[in-house]
Amino acid sequence: MTRDTSMPQATVLAMPGNETLADALARLLGLQRGEATVRRFLDGESAVRVACDVRGHDVLIVCTLHQPDDKLIALMLLAAAAREAGARRVGLVAPYLAYMRQDIAFHPGETASARHVARWLSAAVDWLVTVDPHLHRIHSLGDVYTVPCTVVAAAPAMAAWLREHLPHAVLIGPDEESAQWVGDVASRAGLPHVVLDKVRHGDRQVQVSVPQLDRWLREGAPRTPVLVDDIISTARTMIETVSHLRGTGLPPPVCIGVHAVFAQTAHADLLASGAARVLTCDTIAHPSNAITLAGPIAAAVAAHLGKS
Ligand code: R5P
Repeated sequence: MTRDTSMPQATVLAMPGNETLADALARLLGLQRGEATVRRFLDGESAVRVACDVRGHDVLIVCTLHQPDDKLIALMLLAAAAREAGARRVGLVAPYLAYMRQDIAFHPGETASARHVARWLSAAVDWLVTVDPHLHRIHSLGDVYTVPCTVVAAAPAMAAWLREHLPHAVLIGPDEESAQWVGDVASRAGLPHVVLDKVRHGDRQVQVSVPQLDRWLREGAPRTPVLVDDIISTARTMIETVSHLRGTGLPPPVCIGVHAVFAQTAHADLLASGAARVLTCDTIAHPSNAITLAGPIAAAVAAHLGKS
């Protein structure tokens, strides 16, 4: 992928921990890979610095937003610093977009944090590229973000992985929200799928219905069950589903998540629960990353840079 030389120059900055994707985007799009520093003062406040020439440039900041409270202020300061250093426009590439799950006040006195964080980020950047944000009661990013947003779908890359590595599988979506991803992946991979019902009683208390998989047992060589979800956070959703699959006669399940949030010991807990393999897309750097989305993210960024 090459960039149209008539477009304004563009510079890629990485927030700490995002260097791999920033390097890939710079390489794939032929952009300057600029330097920015982010550090903490002893009192915990953030200090940022754009350490390259961005005058007249489109700047894109790469910052995936898991553990967002550690990153949001520094990210918004870096966007401001880029503008003050002369950037023409500032875009955000946040492969994992945090604060999308609290889309309503679940209890009296709470707030729909998704709306507030969207407003803050919309005030800081000119455009946004992300991957499969958790859209449930908010149907589109445009409902809460006021800047142009592009959503990159992980489904084509996940389906390609399945076609190559697990062509004889049955996909399982653990809840109604997962239906959109699992259905898309299944049709692209030419595989059957089922969607379960889930009730969450607390952060770590999840009840998932028992999958009806009898027909996959009767049809000859048993299919490998593959759990597909957008976010693996505490992993309780997947662990509960894996527990239903034990003793069914099907091979041990494979778990695929888009976003490797993995709170605390979640990754180890999921492996210990009986999953044969746990793999994720590289929207959050994690040892489980097996499916790269750098190519489709670069294509989405190129469209924003070319739109000026
Ligand atoms: C929520 O509905 C999402 O699609 C995921 O199912 C959920 O975020 C997984 O969370 P956890 O890993 O904590 O069960």
